[in-house]
Amino acid sequence: MSTRRVLLGILLLAGAGYLGLRGMRSPEGGASSPAPDAARSHYALYCADCHGADMDGGMASSLVDGRWDYGDSDAAILRSIAEGIEADGMPAFGAALTPAKIDALVALMRAAEAEPAP
Ligand code: HEC
Repeated sequence: MSTRRVLLGILLLAGAGYLGLRGMRSPEGGASSPAPDAARSHYALYCADCHGADMDGGMASSLVDGRWDYGDSDAAILRSIAEGIEADGMPAFGAALTPAKIDALVALMRAAEAEPAP
């Protein structure tokens, strides 16, 4: 009985994970449909340690202050994330994150940047 429950739980989790992955890989993914929840969890997982839980800076700079030292176009920000900024200690995420996921992160930063400061 309890084994079946555990199995059912695992199946449900696997199914949810599968659907989540499918959602992120949807063909229209990218800047036009950024899947903000997925981007938020990627941010928390990969970026928050250095850039702060709210993107407003920690040991690395704020990503929502409108200051972009390495280029402020979407393409430049995407490059900063994918290729990293080795000399300054920003790791490259091109291997860990697909371009669509990085797009979604850029969209998330843009959205947060547009919000008025608290
Ligand atoms: C190990 C710490 C670290 C992690 C993890 C990290 N960064 Fe960075 N990041 C830096 C540093 C250091 C810089 C360059 C100096 C600065 O801006 O503070 C930087 C710079 C950047 C820039 C360029 C900022 C500008 O002014 O042009 C962007 C964009 C950026 N990071 C996004 C991200 C994203 C998105 C993630 C997660 C996928 C991430 N970073 C993860 C440390 C980190």
